[in-house]
Amino acid sequence: MLRLDYEHILPFVDPDQLERRLGDAREAHRLLIEKAGPGGDATGWRDLLIQPDEALLQDIEETAGRIREEADILVCIGIGGSYLGAEAVIQALSPSLGRNEGSPEILFAGHHMGGAYLQELLEYLHGKSVFVNVISKSGRTLEPAIAFRCVRKHLERHFDDAGQRIIVTTDPEKGALNTLCATNEYKKYVIPSDVGGRFSVLTPVGLLPVAVAGTDIRALFEGAAATLVRLASPKDNPALLYAAIRSLLLQQGLCIDLLSVFEPALSAFGRWWQQLFGESEGKNGTGLFPCVAQYSTDLHSIGQYVQDGKRSLMETFLMVERTGSDLTVPAGAEGEAKNLDGLDYLSGRSMEAINRAAWEGTAQAHADGGVPNMTLWMAEISPTCLGEAIYFFEHAVSISGHLLHVNPFDQPGVEAYKKAMFTRLGKP
Ligand code: PA5
Repeated sequence: MLRLDYEHILPFVDPDQLERRLGDAREAHRLLIEKAGPGGDATGWRDLLIQPDEALLQDIEETAGRIREEADILVCIGIGGSYLGAEAVIQALSPSLGRNEGSPEILFAGHHMGGAYLQELLEYLHGKSVFVNVISKSGRTLEPAIAFRCVRKHLERHFDDAGQRIIVTTDPEKGALNTLCATNEYKKYVIPSDVGGRFSVLTPVGLLPVAVAGTDIRALFEGAAATLVRLASPKDNPALLYAAIRSLLLQQGLCIDLLSVFEPALSAFGRWWQQLFGESEGKNGTGLFPCVAQYSTDLHSIGQYVQDGKRSLMETFLMVERTGSDLTVPAGAEGEAKNLDGLDYLSGRSMEAINRAAWEGTAQAHADGGVPNMTLWMAEISPTCLGEAIYFFEHAVSISGHLLHVNPFDQPGVEAYKKAMFTRLGKP
């Protein structure tokens, strides 16, 4: 079960102020549960956990089974909320080198405009059995639309059953993908209208690619659903506490929240978190700017700034109690050469314990350097625990948005660059 450790926050906040902010967070929690706050009609991501659609889960498992049997490669086309959740879960639950047994290679496209990448991808697909899952709620986002046009052409050229190899995940009715589906009879999954992109990982948006990667989507789903139940009451609610602390620190002038992970398998989860918090909070001139770091790698790059730079940061550590690794530091060489590398004090110690000491030291040092920090502990990196963490942060960011008096479920700001870009591209 998730656990929030906030020892390194206490020196930075006044207990009475925190108590008052927790009161505000309880009211924000009520707005979320009762769908009474701004964007209350966009909380379908909670409803689908309260009343799971068994037939849909089964259908996704069947489609995933077919893809796993027939595909060498699944290309997932999507951007933002239409890919970050799948990437986060797949990265966390796949071997760092290689992939899960029986899984096709899963590649992402349509998540940027890089032509060289797309060209390389198209060349890479040659001679392989390819399936595509194109994911776009609006069906009109430029990056995935271009990538889909290119990959679709490849499929139509090389496979007689191209139409059977394309799976579309989109809005129930609107958008160009629906038009394409109707003419080509592609298999289609629906993104519920009341679920926004960044909250959609537990819809077919995330579940299909994740199931193809060999993950038990029931366990992922159930981890999230159990956490919804756990966080349904405002009492002893760590998501409320997390939101209240962040809100207080923002009010005290901190404007950046750095999510730092100590397991490389969680770096894509960090990117998912970044979008969730960035798009949900950052509007009307407010919100903490979310950034992500992977430690201890980044302690050797931005670590200096975090420890000693401008004091505008707070930090959230996402940690894992049991990593499943039993690797220990081997003993040194025998004889005179023994301990030439000076590492004998670590002989026999587990990498898990060493990484944990790195977290302990970092959390202490950053707090001493003026960076309030808290740690969310996952029991392990498993489908259930990832489901728990996904729901935890979705709940917390909704409370946070309500505390900031913004609609946590819209993202009007992302239209500005599109407008300017389309003018330059001469879109009719
Ligand atoms: O969270 C969001 O709503 C966005 O990040 C979208 O997911 C992203 O812009 C992609 O949109 P669409 O799925 O409509 O292509």
